[in-house]
Amino acid sequence: MSCIALFDSGVGGLSILPAIKQNIPNTDIIYLADHHAAPYGNKDPKWLNTRILELVSQLDKRHNLDAIIIACNTASTICLEGLRTTINTPIIGVVPAVKTAAHLSVNQSIGILATPSTINGTYLQSLINDFASQCNVTKVGSTELVTMSEKKLSQQPINYDTLHTIISPFIEARCDVVVLGCTHFPHLIEELTKLAPHIRWIDSADAIAKRCVNVLTDSHALVANQNVTSKLTGKSIFYSTAPINVNLKESIESIGFKQTQTFATTIVP
Ligand code: DGL
Repeated sequence: MSCIALFDSGVGGLSILPAIKQNIPNTDIIYLADHHAAPYGNKDPKWLNTRILELVSQLDKRHNLDAIIIACNTASTICLEGLRTTINTPIIGVVPAVKTAAHLSVNQSIGILATPSTINGTYLQSLINDFASQCNVTKVGSTELVTMSEKKLSQQPINYDTLHTIISPFIEARCDVVVLGCTHFPHLIEELTKLAPHIRWIDSADAIAKRCVNVLTDSHALVANQNVTSKLTGKSIFYSTAPINVNLKESIESIGFKQTQTFATTIVP
């Protein structure tokens, strides 16, 4: 049985789990949410880089991991290089699916919805230059949507008016494809689709799961002849750097995590 870790500032990385389960049904899953320092999207990138390097290194030391998915666009665009030079376990990053959006768009008007950090970062700009230079690109950075997504998993209602205001630049620019460049946002796909059914909202989950299959195949950690199941099989732990509320715990357990634990760390945020 392989063991895959997912890391995010919060529950965002859980949006990648269905694709992982679909492609790698029998694997242990270790999840680390850095709720103590969340949200990431409005924090200083240098500070985040140091913190994430430390947390992921500690996670890697505590478990025998076959792959670590940095299931967070904000973290990936900041610290993939540093993680890969520090940690021996294969690191898989998540970056906005700009290339796919440019390919899928019929009218060459695409949107990118991400955290302010990702929207203002040079990594995204180079993706746009490389893969979407022919497109009219509308960018929206939102931290509020991250909070909204956390609230949804804590079983709190969504404010549709706020959501509509956030996505209105895409509607005005007549975008036909919008990249969900933050792993928290696919949790809101139902609401986004309700408000703008003519927009194709895309994310990187499938691409990440396929990349993970390749990594595990290369290291011979992939279990053959697996039966696809939507439930988590094997060992599954959900860690957070801060205590989580009862409703969130319930949602996490309903996904199939057998244990939720506070990740004890000496890092001072
Ligand atoms: N889920 C994260 C991302 O993909 C970060 C959200 C946040 O903490 O701001 O960017």
